[in-house]
Amino acid sequence: MSHFAYRGNKLFAEDVALDRLAAEFGTPTYVYSSASLIENFSSYAAACSKHGRSENDALVCYSVKSNSNLAVLSLLGKQGSGFDIVSGGELLRVLAAGGDPSKVIFSGVGKSRDEMRLALTHDILCFNVESIPELHRLNEVAAEMHKQAPVSLRVNPDVDAKTHPYISTGLKDNKFGIAFSEAIETYKVAHNLKNLRVVGIDCHIGSQLLDDAPLLEALDKVIELVDELHQAGIELHHLDIGGGIGITYDDEKPVKVGDYLSRLFTRIDAWRAEKYQGKPITVLFEPGRSIVGNAGVLLTEIQYLKHGATKNFAVVDAAMNDLMRPAMYEAWHGVQPVLQRDIAGQTYDVVGPVCESGDWLARERALAIEQGDLLAIMSAGAYGMTMASNYNTRGRAAEVLIDGDKIMLVRKREMPADLFALESIPD
Ligand code: LLP
Repeated sequence: MSHFAYRGNKLFAEDVALDRLAAEFGTPTYVYSSASLIENFSSYAAACSKHGRSENDALVCYSVKSNSNLAVLSLLGKQGSGFDIVSGGELLRVLAAGGDPSKVIFSGVGKSRDEMRLALTHDILCFNVESIPELHRLNEVAAEMHKQAPVSLRVNPDVDAKTHPYISTGLKDNKFGIAFSEAIETYKVAHNLKNLRVVGIDCHIGSQLLDDAPLLEALDKVIELVDELHQAGIELHHLDIGGGIGITYDDEKPVKVGDYLSRLFTRIDAWRAEKYQGKPITVLFEPGRSIVGNAGVLLTEIQYLKHGATKNFAVVDAAMNDLMRPAMYEAWHGVQPVLQRDIAGQTYDVVGPVCESGDWLARERALAIEQGDLLAIMSAGAYGMTMASNYNTRGRAAEVLIDGDKIMLVRKREMPADLFALESIPD
């Protein structure tokens, strides 16, 4: 059930009319629904417990990059979520939000020494390492700190995720992960480094996957490696299958999280029963979009309706700097007028004020709108605010979290002076 729905002719977020939020906080503003976040997180948690997994045997590590607002992190942390981070900055966010560092995994191809030190100081659950040089650097940093760094290797299972090439990560020629054919040798290197402790294996093959077949294929490849490592005397504590489950932006029908997890756990259980006398292995997930994507909209006001020679434009006050996905991936987002009008519709391109032809949010949409109306750009909870920039010296949008009829401003709008506060003019 969507928590963004019309009541009468007005679009609501849970029990709050969106026009009220525009009046109170201005536009553009991201609006998130707590109920939706909790429901989406619960679909993972419920599937884990249905398959007999306690928090120790299955952990959902929410992918912070998809939406890193402290309020979102705090809410998910309270639901029991762990966190998948890709920078020291994200770790500091998780800590500021009261997240538990012992449930944090650190992914990414380019971890700096400082980031490693920070993560080791907070005793995170695991580093997802992506190369041999990274193993050596982590070993050195851990040695300096008289610690042992828990390590998982991100392997590249070379499966086709069948998604947009920019968000596909599991193929041989991607920059991500360790080649499947080199995985065992790399594990041996890690195993022999004194200040590393090998604890897991991980992969992430891409994002916005509609079908779970590529994920289950990746699982089979990972299982093969776990068995080979077992034979080589290297025992793993966990297996991390990454994130990637897609959402409905338009009419896509993504696999249901519960169905995917059922198939995954069934395979894992059969494998453990056959080869390890049923001894369990902890399973980790790194979902982002499937938790926050449809829990957020971007609220914007129409500045002008411009009727061109061949096209009509609705020029709104949100732009590519607020929501980069259309410009970057030609991504499709639904557009809903906050007020449904009883007038004839026309076809519009919804565009922003930024000086780039690529600055569009939606194309060729039938909309019954007037100048000054509000629009909701749908499914904008994931990779919306986190990818926002200050291009054209535009302050980033405000963020509001709704819980029933409760309204919480969870990030103030950035003001122009904030944008040049760190700059200076040389004497
Ligand atoms: N784990 C790793 C290692 C990742 O790289 C990602 C996303 C995730 C987990 C979470 O994936 P999800 O469950 O959200 O699919 N900006 C693009 C998406 C980039 C995804 C990057 N990695 C977009 O707007 O579509």
